[in-house]
Amino acid sequence: MSQGIITVCYIAATILFILALGGLSNQETARRGNVYGMVGMAIALLATIFGVVTANYEILIGALVIGGTIGLILARRVQMTQMPELVAILHSLVGAAAVMVGFASFMDPEMKFEGVEKIIHEIEIYIGVLIGAVTFSGSVIAFGKLSGRIGGRPLMLPGRHWFNLGLLLAAIWFGREFVIQAETGGGMEPLIIMTVIALVFGIHMVMAIGGADMPVVVSMLNSYSGWAASATGFMLSNDLLIVTGALVGSSGAILSYIMCRAMNRKFLAVIAGGFGTGGGASAGGGGEEQGEVVPLDAGEVAVALQDAREVMIIPGYGMAVAQAQHVVQEITRTLREKGVNVRFGIHPVAGRMPGHMNVLLAEAHVPYDIVFEMEEINEDFPDVDVSVVIGANDIVNPSAQEEPDSPIAGMPVLECWKGKLTVVLKRSMATGYAGVQNPLFFKDNTRMLFGDAKDTLDQVLHSLN
Ligand code: TAP
Repeated sequence: MSQGIITVCYIAATILFILALGGLSNQETARRGNVYGMVGMAIALLATIFGVVTANYEILIGALVIGGTIGLILARRVQMTQMPELVAILHSLVGAAAVMVGFASFMDPEMKFEGVEKIIHEIEIYIGVLIGAVTFSGSVIAFGKLSGRIGGRPLMLPGRHWFNLGLLLAAIWFGREFVIQAETGGGMEPLIIMTVIALVFGIHMVMAIGGADMPVVVSMLNSYSGWAASATGFMLSNDLLIVTGALVGSSGAILSYIMCRAMNRKFLAVIAGGFGTGGGASAGGGGEEQGEVVPLDAGEVAVALQDAREVMIIPGYGMAVAQAQHVVQEITRTLREKGVNVRFGIHPVAGRMPGHMNVLLAEAHVPYDIVFEMEEINEDFPDVDVSVVIGANDIVNPSAQEEPDSPIAGMPVLECWKGKLTVVLKRSMATGYAGVQNPLFFKDNTRMLFGDAKDTLDQVLHSLN
């Protein structure tokens, strides 16, 4: 394949990736965006395999078959509720790749740069390995937290900010050592030490982040993985990898910003860790119960829904666990046919990944025009007759507004308690992701419908028909 064709393929792939990102910004165009991304990636892979690579095809094909098979098996097996942890572990692979390419590039005897070019190449390697190692270890810890293997409580080391600052200064100092020693053929030692420092930093950074702030971490690691890929592109002198990495890096950074705004958090405060824990009082609100709750049965909920004019459905992580989206759509259709105005209120961090609820509702063919973002409908609750909270907890927790020491203090929440009646569907009195009890359950105008959301909603639908 000539250089010209490779360049044309790379430009086409870049344009497709940009179109993919544009498509993903809206649920109506998201499917098309995914197709653009897949076609772009296929073109990029083919051009790289048949154009850029010139030897060692056996090893390459072997690696592609092994990697592709693992990917296929994982993709077929993964449950929708496990997607966030899958994404986290995939980010860790990008980080690991950047570290390995960095070391390989440093040890490559055929890399013959001179003077300033050599120094620039060494700095590329150093930064690439640094970002890659932070991404790798941070993503592994994020995987552990999202999959419940590691507890959600933030790790609050005494003097943690000084510890982070010390790690940063050490990384800078070893960077200087690396460039100086590389002049005389050395440099491996400072590179290895810095890798260990970066790994420790990644672990500490994510361990220090409290449960409810995980969405910001997920999108931040997404961004880091992009920059790690971009750094790999510099080391390999591959323009497409540089551009693609930068696209992922910058879109991840924008997503992190959006997440921070949605959570009313400052980005730096989140990555420094322990934000909103009131100086370590992360148990604020605790798991203890705060009074009596009033349970209803499915038939009573159906009557309340039928008698209502305005219904607001608030889906959360439990709807994904129960896979209740299809029955939710059926209930919505039935109520709309009976003249009830049904709308959905979506919190930006509902579920376990950005857009989680929108994906589920789109899958069940809930019309897009009745699905609203939190900021569009939060003022409307006083006019809502019945709010149905389906497997949501933290995103409807009034203590975010009322308890300054709560781990979720300051996070905007859906103010359903301002409506006439709230029905909460969940299996028990267990807390949500942030581990705090929810005073909503004990309010006068709240009723509980206990059980798996799919089972109880099936019963509600049955009573409605
Ligand atoms: P959560 O606060 O985690 O609450 C989910 C609730 O669903 C639980 O209280 C659980 O109670 C209930 N539940 C679980 N399985 C159920 C089932 N089969 N049927 C009925 N109910 C079920 O969820 P949320 O309100 O969506 O809030 C999201 C939380 O996750 C936030 O703290 C957010 O910061 C965090 N987070 C979000 C993301 C993104 S990007 N969205 C990423 C990481 C973390 P029972 O056990 O009693 O049933």
